[in-house]
Amino acid sequence: MANPWFETVAIAQERAKKRVPKSVYGALIAGAEAGVTASDNVSAFDCIGFRPVTAGQGAERQMDVTIMGQSASMPVMISPTGVQAVHPDGEVAVGRAAANRGIPMGLSSFGSKPIEQVTEVNSQIMFQLYWAGDRDSMLARMERARAAGAVGLILTLDWSFSHGRDWGSPHIPQSFKPREILPHAPEVLARPGYCWSWIKSRQIPRLRVPNFVTGDDAPPLFFEAYGTWMGTPPPSWDDVAWLRSQWDGPFMVKGVVRVDEARRAVDAGADAISVSNHGGNNVDSAPAPIRVLPEIADAVGNDIRVLMDGGIRRGSDVVKALALGADAVLIGRAYLWGLAANGQAGVENVLDILRGGIDATMRGIGVDKVTDLSPDDVIVPDGFSPPPLR
Ligand SMILES: Cc1cc2nc3c(=O)[nH]c(=O)nc-3n(C[C@H](O)[C@H](O)[C@H](O)COP(=O)(O)O)c2cc1C
Repeated sequence: MANPWFETVAIAQERAKKRVPKSVYGALIAGAEAGVTASDNVSAFDCIGFRPVTAGQGAERQMDVTIMGQSASMPVMISPTGVQAVHPDGEVAVGRAAANRGIPMGLSSFGSKPIEQVTEVNSQIMFQLYWAGDRDSMLARMERARAAGAVGLILTLDWSFSHGRDWGSPHIPQSFKPREILPHAPEVLARPGYCWSWIKSRQIPRLRVPNFVTGDDAPPLFFEAYGTWMGTPPPSWDDVAWLRSQWDGPFMVKGVVRVDEARRAVDAGADAISVSNHGGNNVDSAPAPIRVLPEIADAVGNDIRVLMDGGIRRGSDVVKALALGADAVLIGRAYLWGLAANGQAGVENVLDILRGGIDATMRGIGVDKVTDLSPDDVIVPDGFSPPPLR
């Protein structure tokens, strides 16, 4: 490809689609059931308008914020994702890109690179845990993250193991045995750039989850770890409070979409929540986070930092989320597409697109500081948010 730079996240998505094998791309698209929520996450942003000004704006915009104690050059953070097989450098490339652009990164416990390799390139890593396995194994994962230099903990709770998508789930090999791998040969060979990147790196996609274990234990295969998680009963809010008490740094609960649960997260001692539905991968027909954000920010915004994620594809989406009460946003697919399209440079490209978009939007609406954004800066149609929870 002559020029790997792209000008929008939509173009990064197109490039990713052309570059990675069909099943890898399918895993990035993800979504649950009919994909109602996954698509509403994105389209809900289109319903919100702005009130542009014509003159009188400041000469510069100030975008830096603090996210869970970490300085961020813009109100954006990398959301944790299992980026298995997307790119040979995986989370290390994402970590470098985030460090170069001055933003913190969430690292998934289902990620493909050991946390020590990621904290080596980025000092602002927040480790993400699922409620998976017994308490001792969760504590051991947490301790490993602490020893590796993680500066925050993210507990993701919104996953209900729904399976089945109307467009078909990609087949993911359960192991690297020839009978599992060979059926993938045609789709992989049809993507020579992708093959070449793995050949050059002298690696193969291992589909193992190195951050799920500690000490000398061999990392389990993705599906083995997934089985452990699936077999673990969901936590109570007391369990959440217990985990929080075991971590002495900033702690986020990710996946809250209800006011009553946002209050429970405050009571459990969390420092932050992310209003999120796991990128439309949890219960389908859950509302887009941007729709429930205003009510949640109103209720707990003074007690806890309120982040949101789901559907962020442009800088203007970030501005809309901040206007409606978010302190910052997390991004998932946007950076995964950048990574798939062009590795570390692709992730940096996506972050630059968001920064440019935030800047242009704020200039357009005449707001100089991201922390000054308010609901007055956006036009929200009637019926945009679900009726308040009674
Ligand atoms: C392919 C994929 C893998 C994900 N893996 C994780 C994960 O391991 N841990 C987690 O907390 N969230 C995970 N998520 C959810 C993201 O962190 C984030 O909530 C979501 O992607 C935000 O929506 P967006 O993709 O529209 O930005 C994943 C999402 C996708 C698309």
